Amino acid sequence: MSETRTLSVGLIGCGTMGGSHATQLVTLPEVRLAVACDLDISRAEAVATQAATKGQTVRVTTDVATVLADPTIDGVIVATPNFTHKDVVLAALAAGKDVFCEKPMALTLADCDVMIARAHELGRKLMVGQVLRLITVFATVRRLVSEGTVGKPFAVRILRCARRGVEGPWAATWRSKRANTGGLLHEVNVHEFDFMRSIFGEVAEVTAMAANFTRPEYDYEDHVIVTLRFRNGGLGVLESSVATVIGATEGLVTGDRGSIFYDWARNHVSYRLVDGTEVEVPVESDAGRSVQSELSSFAKWILHDEAPVVTSEDGRRAVQLAEAAYESIATGRTVHLH
Ligand SMILES: NC(=O)c1ccc[n+]([C@@H]2O[C@H](COP(=O)([O-])OP(=O)(O)OC[C@H]3O[C@@H](n4cnc5c(N)ncnc54)[C@H](O)[C@@H]3O)[C@@H](O)[C@H]2O)c1
Repeated sequence: MSETRTLSVGLIGCGTMGGSHATQLVTLPEVRLAVACDLDISRAEAVATQAATKGQTVRVTTDVATVLADPTIDGVIVATPNFTHKDVVLAALAAGKDVFCEKPMALTLADCDVMIARAHELGRKLMVGQVLRLITVFATVRRLVSEGTVGKPFAVRILRCARRGVEGPWAATWRSKRANTGGLLHEVNVHEFDFMRSIFGEVAEVTAMAANFTRPEYDYEDHVIVTLRFRNGGLGVLESSVATVIGATEGLVTGDRGSIFYDWARNHVSYRLVDGTEVEVPVESDAGRSVQSELSSFAKWILHDEAPVVTSEDGRRAVQLAEAAYESIATGRTVHLH
C-alpha cells in the first residue's frame, strides 16, 4: 500500500462510544469516516452532521450489511452493545473487513477465541479498544514503572467506583442485563484488568466476591472485589462499584523502591520512594488523545503493518479475567489460570 493511502472506515454503533470515535476520526489524516451505521438513524445522522461541520461527508444507514457489502470500506469500528460484538465482528471479517472492536471483546473467552481464529483464517486484522492503558494518566503510570522508578512492582490496588445516582452511560437500558453486558467486570473492569496485565503480565489466580446492594433494576452486581495473583508473584486488588456515594478512580502501584499513586479524576500521578523523595509527575490532559491514538494505530496497522498498541489477545485476556472472577464468585473458590 502507498504511504499516502487513507483508510476508509465504517462506524457501526453511533451511541456514546461511537460518538467519541467519530469525533476523533475526523481529526486523523490517515482515516476517512465514510459511513455511519446505527439501528437508530438519528444517531448515525448526528455523527454525519458533526462531521459536516469539519467539512467531511459521511453517509448514513441503519443496515450493517450495506456497510459490509461496500467494497470501498476497508475497515469497520464496532461500537455496538457488548452482546452484539461477536456476531457483528464475525460478519465484518467474513465480508473481508479489518475490524476495530470496542471492549469488552465478547461476553465469553470461547467467543474471543472464535473471533481471533476467524480473523487469522481470513487474514484480517482484529484490534480491541482496551483504551484505558493509553489514557494519559495510565500511560504515565506505565512509563514510570517501565523506567524502574519504583523498582520491581509487586502490588497494585485499584478503586473504580462510580457514584450512585450519577447515571451517564448507565442510563442505556441494555446495560441493566447481564445477558447484554456480561456484568460489571465485562462492561467496566476489562479496562482495569488490561491495565494491570500491562504492568504485571499474566495472572495465575483470581478470587472474587460480588453483590447487588443498591440497583434492583439490574440483574447483576453493583459492587465487586477481585483479588489477583500474577504469575510473577505480584498481587492485585480491584474494587469496582456503581453504588458508592463518594466516587473514586484511583490506584496505587507499589514496588521495592516506592509507590506510585494516580487519581484519574484529578489527572494526577505522583510517587514516593523509600528514601522519602516525593514527586508529582506532570500529566497532559487526555482530551481524546487516547482514542485518537488507538484509532490511528488501527489505521497504521492496516496501512503500514505497524504493530498495534493493543491487540485482540489483550482483549481476550481481559475477558478471561472477568470470566474467571465470575467463576470464583459462583463457586466461592479461587480460580487458577493456565
Ligand atoms: N472504551 C471505552 O472506554 C468505552 C466507553 C463506553 C462504551 N464502550 C463500549 O462501547 C460499546 C457501546 O457502548 P455505548 O456506551 O456507546 O452504548 P450506547 O447504548 O450509547 O450506543 C450503542 C449504539 O449501538 C446501536 N446499535 C445496537 N445494536 C446495533 C446493531 N446491531 N447495528 C448497528 N447499531 C446498533 C444502538 O442503537 C446505539 O446507538 C459497548 O461495548 C461499551 O462497552 C467503551
